[in-house]
Amino acid sequence: MKIALVGYGKMGREIEQIALSRGHEIVSIIDVNNEADFESEAFKSAAVAIEFTSPHSALNNFRRCFAAGVPVVAGTTGWLEHMAEVKQACEKEGKTFFYASNFSLGVNIFFALNNYLAKIMNQYPDYDVKMEEVHHIHKLDAPSGTAITLAEGVLENIDRKSAWMLETAESETDLPIHCIRQGEVPGIHEIIYESEVDTISIKHDAKSRKGFALGAVVAAEFTAGKKGFLGMGDMLKF
Ligand SMILES: NC(=O)c1ccc[n+]([C@@H]2O[C@H](COP(=O)([O-])OP(=O)(O)OC[C@H]3O[C@@H](n4cnc5c(N)ncnc54)[C@H](O)[C@@H]3O)[C@@H](O)[C@H]2O)c1
Repeated sequence: MKIALVGYGKMGREIEQIALSRGHEIVSIIDVNNEADFESEAFKSAAVAIEFTSPHSALNNFRRCFAAGVPVVAGTTGWLEHMAEVKQACEKEGKTFFYASNFSLGVNIFFALNNYLAKIMNQYPDYDVKMEEVHHIHKLDAPSGTAITLAEGVLENIDRKSAWMLETAESETDLPIHCIRQGEVPGIHEIIYESEVDTISIKHDAKSRKGFALGAVVAAEFTAGKKGFLGMGDMLKF
């Protein structure tokens, strides 16, 4: 399959290796110095573009992929305030877009576990809940997209919580997310339930970026030839 890469940083390079090892062809690589290539025949020939850039450039890149008629698999986080525009492009203009705040299979198992635990904990108000996430010092957004997905899972299932807050809870209905930026950590997420008598926590600790990159390539294989707004829930059936 012909794949274009938008963003050739840590993730773009990791994705290139995995895509090649799975027999795909990289027909175009776009980074800050060659943005005109969105209009190239090579870019337009791609079955899918995999986009991992930065929160500020993501939306414009999606628009340029859509204009070139190339479906997008997006991994960039920190742009979710523009989600309505992207969904509208899929629903009204027939574009194709796959987004995951986290492409790793392990994290998606962890999302399911988080929802299940939150459903149980809804019945036990003696436990308060908080989250902690740790990432490398180069990360631009906080909390991480993964932390936001985890927080949404808690808020959907625990009636006594209604909003997540960065760092400190302002009221009992808030879910605080503590963000730590440290060294080269690929990503650690922990959800902690605490009562007067004990603590229950679940934690995902990524050992490298390989899991994210493999998931993005598998998502690109899934997205090719499909229409509309897609996500991990469409691809992983658990
Ligand atoms: N969804 C996931 O599973 C997942 C996993 C890891 C990282 N991420 C996210 O992916 C994004 C990229 O992560 P990274 O570690 O590769 O970052 P990085 O800083 O190593 O690489 C980003 C690349 O994008 C390029 N870029 C910036 N603006 C651009 C533009 N307008 N057009 C083209 N290229 C542009 C930069 O020059 C750089 O090469 C971040 O938002 C990160 O949070 C998501």
